Amino acid sequence: MCGIVGYTGRQEATPIILDGLKRLEYRGYDSAGICTLNNGHAETRRSEGKLINLENLLAKEPIAGAIGIGHTRWATHGRPSEINAHPHQAGPVVVVHNGIIENYLQLREELRAAHHTFKSETDTEVIAHLVEKKLRESGDFEKAVRQALGELRGAYAVCILCETEAGTMIAAKQGSPMVIGLGDEEFFVASDIPAILSHTREMIFMEDGEMAVFRNNKPAFSTVAGAPLTKNSRHIDWSPLMAEKGGYKHFMLKEIFEQPRAISDTIAGRLLEEEGDVYLESLSLPDGELKKVERICIIACGTSWHAGLVGKFLLEEHCRIPVEVDIASEFRYRNPVVNDRTLIILISQSGETADTLAAMREGKARGGKNVAICNVVDSSIAREADGVVYTHAGPEIGVASTKAFVTQLVALYLFTIKLGRTIGTIDKEKGQAMIASLVKVPALLEKTLELNHQVESVAKRYMNARDFLYLGRGINYPIALEGALKLKEISYIHAEGYPAGEMKHGPIALIDENMPVVILVPQNANYEKVASNMEEVIARGGRVIAVCSAGDREIAGKAEVTLEIPQDNDDLAPILLSVPLQLLAYHVAVLKGTDVDQPRNLAKSVTVE
Ligand code: F6R
Repeated sequence: MCGIVGYTGRQEATPIILDGLKRLEYRGYDSAGICTLNNGHAETRRSEGKLINLENLLAKEPIAGAIGIGHTRWATHGRPSEINAHPHQAGPVVVVHNGIIENYLQLREELRAAHHTFKSETDTEVIAHLVEKKLRESGDFEKAVRQALGELRGAYAVCILCETEAGTMIAAKQGSPMVIGLGDEEFFVASDIPAILSHTREMIFMEDGEMAVFRNNKPAFSTVAGAPLTKNSRHIDWSPLMAEKGGYKHFMLKEIFEQPRAISDTIAGRLLEEEGDVYLESLSLPDGELKKVERICIIACGTSWHAGLVGKFLLEEHCRIPVEVDIASEFRYRNPVVNDRTLIILISQSGETADTLAAMREGKARGGKNVAICNVVDSSIAREADGVVYTHAGPEIGVASTKAFVTQLVALYLFTIKLGRTIGTIDKEKGQAMIASLVKVPALLEKTLELNHQVESVAKRYMNARDFLYLGRGINYPIALEGALKLKEISYIHAEGYPAGEMKHGPIALIDENMPVVILVPQNANYEKVASNMEEVIARGGRVIAVCSAGDREIAGKAEVTLEIPQDNDDLAPILLSVPLQLLAYHVAVLKGTDVDQPRNLAKSVTVE
């Protein structure tokens, strides 16, 4: 998730773009860059790290021009470095891009064969070269952009300049957000409203497949294919803070609603649908290493540990390799059994958690090979790992993890397919079926998010409870743990998650008419068992909030409240079940008036023991 800004008008572009990038820093912050056209000459400044580094560079080496583009990066393809920072230039063509180009490897090979030389590891540089190639063929910048965009698969919001057409800026969108601000003979392009809100409140929201060409400060809208369009503007009356949160009250809610997009990004470019296999670009463990694996240890903390518990079910079911799941701070101080046939999977959103990093080093010192599942490219864990499967959730700002968690589940599912296909426990047909289920998830998640208002009223009803119990079974029991953790950390209500079958061995003593019990009871192989656990709760006066499959009359007739999720493949149900639990924690916390995005005593990244 990167941020782009473009400007064309009468003012100096650099300060406007820099200010816009500052307001988009929440979208990514590992490197940044700006390019302006000054008398037909592209002047570019790029730097690694936070935006302040780019500001310092521009103070030392200023650039001029009333047309320009800028970018703040959250690495997906290629590590954070100056060379991978945008804008990317090929011949006279300069590009900033937000999104993921799925067919960039194939396009890069074709362009290399046509003697194009690449400087970076990014998918974006392919766009610059493709436009340059088309420009050489037709001599027409606009036509070249249309042709190049027509060859891209995946998601993009792009802003493109060309030295040979110095008064023109082209912006286009497919799958990634883009808004255009209308000024007085000046125009602004941005990934999001806050970047340009201080300059104009009149905005045009671009839709997929649309393009805007600004020629000498006159806009023309069309489809990428070339059909002219009339676009209406909207007046935006948000405050700057509201705008940064996309109109949501908190980052946490925004991030909950971003989950379908985050999952699509994590899947993008990785599915080999015909082969029933997946491509994990930074896994870098040879198949021979994977074939040697006799045992897997998954190590993580907190929410990431809950993802690991789901991973155990996936890997044991489909790869038939024994899996242990360990809390990092326990693993590192035990005398763990690890050898060169042990694969260690580290899961960490931040990639900086001190205990997980130390556990990784401990495992490595004992001869284990490792793979990290990380959200932050080039974080300490990602750098030291033998291989990485990145989640593409984008920066997560709310301290309580939501979108990072569901993308960890997706990454584990992808890794399961990869390992199973490599060692032969998943055949082509089964791989195809697993992929077919996965691609449905973003749409099912959209549907599940429609529960928001219902969950809000459930929160009103139960917000004064002193304790909550969460129960789930099998692959969904870790989601009960996660639901309880979410409620604890942001509402400060005591909550416990338990495997439903374990309830009778202790927690049942707590159940009375004051205890809300959230029970995860989708229709799967454990359905009957969980339904009878639910009866046990009801018999003791407990107040059941059941999260069940859509249309389940049986459960609806018994529970105090039902929250219905779309019926899905059992392996992916944990993703859908997470949503109502995240929303419940969120609404209870809002009603209680806690600091949802920065709960007391918690930090986003725990870099101390
Ligand atoms: C809870 C939460 C934490 C983190 C834990 C590990 O909402 O976010 O429990 O999951 O601190 O952090 P990472 O994944 O960055 O290693």
